[in-house]
Amino acid sequence: MPGKRYGYFDNKAKEYCITRPDTPIPWINYLGCQDYLGLISNTAGGYSFYRDACLRRLLRYHYNAIPKDNPGRYIYVCDGKKTWNPSFKPVKTKLDDYKCRHGLGYSVIEGALDGLRVSTTYFVPIDINAEIWSLTIKNEGRKSKDVDLFSYAEFCLYNAVDDSTNFQRNWNIAEMEIEGSAIFHKTEYRERRNHYVGFWCSEKIAGFDTMRDVFLGKLNDYGSPDVIKNRKAANSVAHSWQPVGSHQVKLSLKPGQTKRLHFVLGYIENPQDEKFVSPGVINKKRFYDMIAGLKTSAQIDKEFKKLKKFWADALSNYQVTIDNEHVDRMVNIWNQYQCMVTFNLSRSASSFETGMSRGLGFRDSNQDILGFVHIVPQRAKQRIIDLASTQNHDGSCYHQYQPLTKKGNDAVGTGFSDDPLWLIVSTSAYIKETGDWTILDAPAGYQDVPGSDKNTTLMDHLHLSMKHVLELRGSHGLPLIQHADWNDCLNLNCFSKNPGESFQISGDIEGGKAESVMVAQLFIYSAKELNAILEHLGQKDKVKEYTRQADEMRSAILKNGWDGKWFIRAYDHFEKPIGSKVCDEGKIFIETQGWGVMAEIGIEDGKAIAALDSAWQYLGDTNGMVLNQPAYTYYRDHLGEITSYPPGYKENASIFCHNNTWVVIGETIVGRGDKAWDLYTRICPSTKEDKADTYKCEPYCFAQTISGHDSPLPGEAKNSWLTGTASWSFTALAQYILGIRPEHDGLRVDPCIPPDWKKFTITRKFRGATYNIKVSNPDGVMKGVKKMLVNGKQTPGNIVPIFKEGSTVKVEVLLGNSK
Ligand code: GLC
Ligand code: GLC
Repeated sequence: MPGKRYGYFDNKAKEYCITRPDTPIPWINYLGCQDYLGLISNTAGGYSFYRDACLRRLLRYHYNAIPKDNPGRYIYVCDGKKTWNPSFKPVKTKLDDYKCRHGLGYSVIEGALDGLRVSTTYFVPIDINAEIWSLTIKNEGRKSKDVDLFSYAEFCLYNAVDDSTNFQRNWNIAEMEIEGSAIFHKTEYRERRNHYVGFWCSEKIAGFDTMRDVFLGKLNDYGSPDVIKNRKAANSVAHSWQPVGSHQVKLSLKPGQTKRLHFVLGYIENPQDEKFVSPGVINKKRFYDMIAGLKTSAQIDKEFKKLKKFWADALSNYQVTIDNEHVDRMVNIWNQYQCMVTFNLSRSASSFETGMSRGLGFRDSNQDILGFVHIVPQRAKQRIIDLASTQNHDGSCYHQYQPLTKKGNDAVGTGFSDDPLWLIVSTSAYIKETGDWTILDAPAGYQDVPGSDKNTTLMDHLHLSMKHVLELRGSHGLPLIQHADWNDCLNLNCFSKNPGESFQISGDIEGGKAESVMVAQLFIYSAKELNAILEHLGQKDKVKEYTRQADEMRSAILKNGWDGKWFIRAYDHFEKPIGSKVCDEGKIFIETQGWGVMAEIGIEDGKAIAALDSAWQYLGDTNGMVLNQPAYTYYRDHLGEITSYPPGYKENASIFCHNNTWVVIGETIVGRGDKAWDLYTRICPSTKEDKADTYKCEPYCFAQTISGHDSPLPGEAKNSWLTGTASWSFTALAQYILGIRPEHDGLRVDPCIPPDWKKFTITRKFRGATYNIKVSNPDGVMKGVKKMLVNGKQTPGNIVPIFKEGSTVKVEVLLGNSK
């Protein structure tokens, strides 16, 4: 029986419409696509920051507190005797109508009670460092209404960690200014900060508050503030303690009358010598200049239109028309959107990531490129160069770096064996998409050699990555795993025994003997990508050399990485296999089955199919494939963090969606479109609407994990939004199932689909031209291009050549058996 639904996809509007406030967990969306970023839940919970979720946090949020998801961007409505929020929370008065429409870069939260309807559109305009709360209030009743509205935003004291820990200091420092309908948060501005936040209302205000304790009153929470009970702002000015911003607006509405007003919360930086107009008083010119462009409803509408256009353009690079609702939602809207969000936020701020810890991951960021390079290639280019610049001259890569400083984090350091190779994968994707070969000559230095950017290019880094992995090999001829490989929790050299220490970087990996089969496979894959680049450059000798190295790696895998029916996962420090039939637990792992096929090992002799079949047989789960089986049931310090998780969770036998996509791709490589699609739908969030009470996370974005069948509570998703699953699931569906794949010399069309997909059409913008690709499959095959017409002319193979910028190309593809 289908379970309760909490909303529906509105594809036409490109929105997910949530129809009840009591979603299993807060279902969030993101605001902003450049520097000013924020998240917002369906009940208006959430926060904002400028560039860095830790060091420049603008609004406060309480993670892991009760009630959940507080505070937020609240609108309190006082109408007659009733007090309510259009977002339902925090007052929780039962509403006559409620909906939250999460769109691309904006959310509209609307509530109605007793004939009054209030709808707020929250968004961050393109190129403006501010968020807008734009309200439409309609009196749908028969009597005139006198309504009081109150806004509420709670300011974080900029450094999110300090804000939630260092109370002996920070309960003494808050400072505010109020001017007309604008409230200014200027904590620490008097000394070292040169930035402040202004919170402005388009209406003349009846009052304001900036002290949380005064606004709320004693013993109250956000659901029952004194100011709201009294229907009267107290005009409090915060000195120290917790600063907030609240405006009171009085409105009279005749029956049928609609009124619009808005709030702007803007972030401003002042040059050092322009900080003050008089001692202690902020120079607000820049803020008022910003507001000048956001004063009227017409201006707000114009900004909103720009935002919509930005997203329509962004998504227009890949659009499909197909008779399948999941493909439609994911490809055309949600998965592309999630890829952009994940690129913007990396792994910093979500319902699961507090924005206080991790920097940008080296491997994560490189993989993110795959999902959005077709949307904003320029930003991909910069990211690739930034990443390369955190590599050291010996080829080791910092595992993470800070976006503000662009320097690698010493706290985590280097020594994750897969990291260097991802740089090749992302660079290759960038060049295939854009044809911009100049990136290879872009200066990118080594982090440990200051000034080296003068004589080092990105190309040097790619060679160095290969060399580094090759140099560090173990007794089976496979790359040493060091701290870990893609699976951060396979810590085979770390032997952590003390609670609290990092599983991944404790211990001494010098002399660690453990090896990774996955990195060996990734090496072969990277060699192929790099060779395609070198061939283009005419560097035949280097191609030969990498081919030889890849062959050597392949032999090592065939000799020591094949277990009879599947690929072994790794060798531990004692040179014993992991992910082999000889193990008592963890006999088989998913990663090497996907990557083995992606590295094209055993395609001819049946090993590839056998590996995939074994994955289905031993790892299959209703929600995808679990990471390993049998799950580890006790902690083993020679295997590390993976064995720290209870069975069925995270890296220990959950469905870790990210690596499922590699098996999806593997299935398309061997031509089994039905199986590829089957696995894709199992992890696809849009198939979970009927199981929302179990699945819990948003149905419109992929999650990192779904608890596996070893868990007592299987099927629960966690860590939605910011995950490598975003880019890889888009790659799997767009490039391998639908099969439209950029290559150096054109656009490959190589679908691998379930036999009952009879036709689909794709519009793909590629290197400035628009390709309208019609695929038909009258014979019901899964793979194989029988005939291709390009602008009406039969063209051999399945690569559409590159056309001039601005041209429109008609491509007709007939699938079928060529014999
Ligand atoms: C997380 C990390 C990623 C890692 C994966 C598997 O998603 O961000 O770097 O590869 O877990 O451990
Ligand atoms: C934990 C997680 C893993 C993640 C890592 C990041 O180990 O299980 O998924 O990659 O933290 O440091």
